[in-house]
Amino acid sequence: MEFYSIKGGNPLCGEVDIAGAKNAALPILSAAIMTNETVLVENVPDVSDIRAILSAIESIGAIVTRVDRHTFRINGSRIVDGPVMDEAVRKIRGSYYLIGALLGKYRRAEVTLPKGCNIGLRPIDQHVKGFRALGADVRIEHGMIVAGAEDLIGSHIYLDVVSVGATINIMMAASLARGLTIIENAAKEPHVVDCANFLNSMGAQIKGAGTDVIRIRGVEKLHGTEYSIIPDQIEAGTYMFAAAATRGDVTIHNVIPKHLESLTAKLEEIGCQVEISDDAVRVTANKRLINTHVKTLPYPGFPTDMQPQITVILGLANGTSIVTESIFESRFKYVDELTRMGAQIKVEGNTAIVTGVPYYTGANITAPDLRAGAGLVIAALAADGWSEIHDVVYIERGYEDFPEKLRSLGADIRVLDTDDPDAERKARMSLAV
Ligand code: EPZ
Repeated sequence: MEFYSIKGGNPLCGEVDIAGAKNAALPILSAAIMTNETVLVENVPDVSDIRAILSAIESIGAIVTRVDRHTFRINGSRIVDGPVMDEAVRKIRGSYYLIGALLGKYRRAEVTLPKGCNIGLRPIDQHVKGFRALGADVRIEHGMIVAGAEDLIGSHIYLDVVSVGATINIMMAASLARGLTIIENAAKEPHVVDCANFLNSMGAQIKGAGTDVIRIRGVEKLHGTEYSIIPDQIEAGTYMFAAAATRGDVTIHNVIPKHLESLTAKLEEIGCQVEISDDAVRVTANKRLINTHVKTLPYPGFPTDMQPQITVILGLANGTSIVTESIFESRFKYVDELTRMGAQIKVEGNTAIVTGVPYYTGANITAPDLRAGAGLVIAALAADGWSEIHDVVYIERGYEDFPEKLRSLGADIRVLDTDDPDAERKARMSLAV
């Protein structure tokens, strides 16, 4: 099993390019099979969750051709109407997008229930509510979600919780329903807008994506398109926060600064300098940061996917900070690991009370999920001494070339294998030596 060996203490300095957004690519690659014509998708991140969704659509007959590392041609004309049971599907949350895509196109979908990151209960009742409102019969049987409809008819759907997944899934199915669908209390995340733009480029008629109310006028069929996925807001944010934690100076290219506003605001509040240009942000920090309070919220609020990363930084800030997680019920599992590095954090329900310490010390720790794993890497980069981070397979689900990009910024990080008898010695060998 691979693990990261990190010698902390180097300020990150330099420039880094951001990949396409994983959470936009998952629905877009699923929606690509909704037409029988060929679709070209560019700026697809090369991460394991994306490999899993591509494997899933191939398993039901889609032809997937890799044009280059980040570009795929997809043709869904030969899809067979069978269940999606590919082993890869079980592992990724985003596989639920195949339900909306298949239900819209074939009026029938049978998909293994997804697992995804270990961050608490992940109900899909709002997805189901939306599909039922469109006229589908939806059942959960033998670990599969089975949806079928004679016809899909546009409907008025009010989401009880703001859900990215439900908004996109309903939007996909409704694109090929008859008549008008209105989704109220819709999610406004950039990847919701990106997916709507993608579907519109295939001939869908979706208006209002990015606001609370999305209107979808169903069309008879979708056609081929060429589309480039937006940059990953969370990957960008992770490098911004890594620069802040290590008191570095990093310019992050290929970003949409508007998508980073809640992150920029917090970084400035805690004492970092953030310079914004058309498609880049530069984050510098040269002194100890100061405390603040953070509450995760749906976009444009502070993203839950950046909660571990900011908690890690606040753990090093001067003063006491309060971090409230309002989206997922158990997203503080990494705090135990951070405590082993010297952090002083007390979790009460969905709130973490963070008393800043002057430094972390390197430790042997385990990533409990994707974003927490990224947060722990940031902690290790800022810490005194060596850390080992295990279960990096979580991190590789969503960060392309994470160790390589960090190394290019001056981090002392290497990828080692627990099966390598020499791993221990290599782990203690600084790259600088
Ligand atoms: C997406 O998950 C992302 N995943 C998550 O990113 C992200 O944390 C989350 O949105 C919030 O931004 C993908 O895009 C694949 P939700 P999703 O539906 O769609 C509740 C990462 O690290 N809810 O917006 O599953 C739910 O329990 C991952 O990249 C219901 O109650 O999230 C949560 O409290 C982790 N019923 C809230 O809504 C439902 O039917 C928001 O969840 C659906 C959701």
